[in-house]
Amino acid sequence: MNDDKLEVLNQSTYRNKAIVAQYQRRADILPGERFLFQSLKQRLLGSRMLDIGVGGGRTTAYLLDIAQHYTGVDLSQEMVDACKSRFPAHAENFHQCDVRDMSKFDAASFDVALFSFNGLDYIPHQGRLAALQEIRRIVRPGGLFIFSTHLTPSLKSRFAPTANPNSDNWLSDWRLRLLFHWHNLGVRDIDTTPYSLVRDASHNFRLITYYSQPETVLQQLANAGFGAVRTFENYREAELSRESYLTTQLNWAYFAAEA
Ligand SMILES: C[S@@+](CC[C@H](N)C(=O)[O-])C[C@H]1O[C@@H](n2cnc3c(N)ncnc32)[C@H](O)[C@@H]1O
Repeated sequence: MNDDKLEVLNQSTYRNKAIVAQYQRRADILPGERFLFQSLKQRLLGSRMLDIGVGGGRTTAYLLDIAQHYTGVDLSQEMVDACKSRFPAHAENFHQCDVRDMSKFDAASFDVALFSFNGLDYIPHQGRLAALQEIRRIVRPGGLFIFSTHLTPSLKSRFAPTANPNSDNWLSDWRLRLLFHWHNLGVRDIDTTPYSLVRDASHNFRLITYYSQPETVLQQLANAGFGAVRTFENYREAELSRESYLTTQLNWAYFAAEA
C-alpha cells in the first residue's frame, strides 16, 4: 500500500457527504475517553485546547464545557463546515488545517492538543512523524497531547486462517475475514515490522489505517520530544499499566503524553 493511495482514499472518505453526516450526528464520549478526561480534569479545566481532526464535532460540546479556549481543526473542509453549522455560536473556532503544517498556530500556544478516535492513523508514515513534531511545537512545555492509535498485535486474529467455528456469526465472520485478506494481500510481517498500513473494515474498507507495535508508539513520541506517557483503554473505563499496554490485544488504545 503506497502513501499516495492512502492520502487519496482517506481524504476522499473523510470528505464524503454521508460519512461527514455520520460524524456530525455523534456526541458520545467513549468510556475510555471519559475516564481519561476525568483523570486529567485538573489539567484540562480552563485550558487552551486544540481538537485536531475534530471531524463532525463529536467531542466539541463536552470539551467546550471544560476548556477556556477551544479550537477545532480538520483536513477535511467538509468536516469543518459540519462543525460550523452544528455550533454556530463557535463557528469562528473551527479551521481547515493539516496537522502536518500548523504554521497558522504559534509555538506553545496550546495547553492541550487532542487527536481523538485514531485520526493520527490516517496519515502516512513520514507525515505522522511530521505531525508529532508539529503537535510538540504548538503545545507548551508541561502541556498534554491526548490521542488514540491502532495497535498491530490485535491484527493477528484477523490474519489467522480459521474463523471461530463456535461463533453464532461464523458465516459473516468468514465473509469479513475473506474480504480482509483480499484487501490486505500485500501486507506482510505484521509481527516484526514497526508499523503496518492496513485496510480494516472501518467505513466498509474505505480507509487505509496505520497500525503500530505498542513499543513503536512510545518510541515515536520520545523521538518527537514528548516525556512521560500514560495509556488508557478505549471502550472500558481503565488505565493500562505499562506491562498490560505492551501485551494488549486491544484494537486501539488512548495515550496522554507530557509535552
Ligand atoms: C476517525 S475521524 C475522527 C473524528 C473526530 N475526532 C471524532 O472523534 O469523531 C478522523 C478525522 O481526522 C481528520 N484528519 C485526517 N487526516 C488529517 C490531517 N492530516 N490533519 C487534520 N485532520 C486530519 C479526518 O478528516 C477526520 O475528520
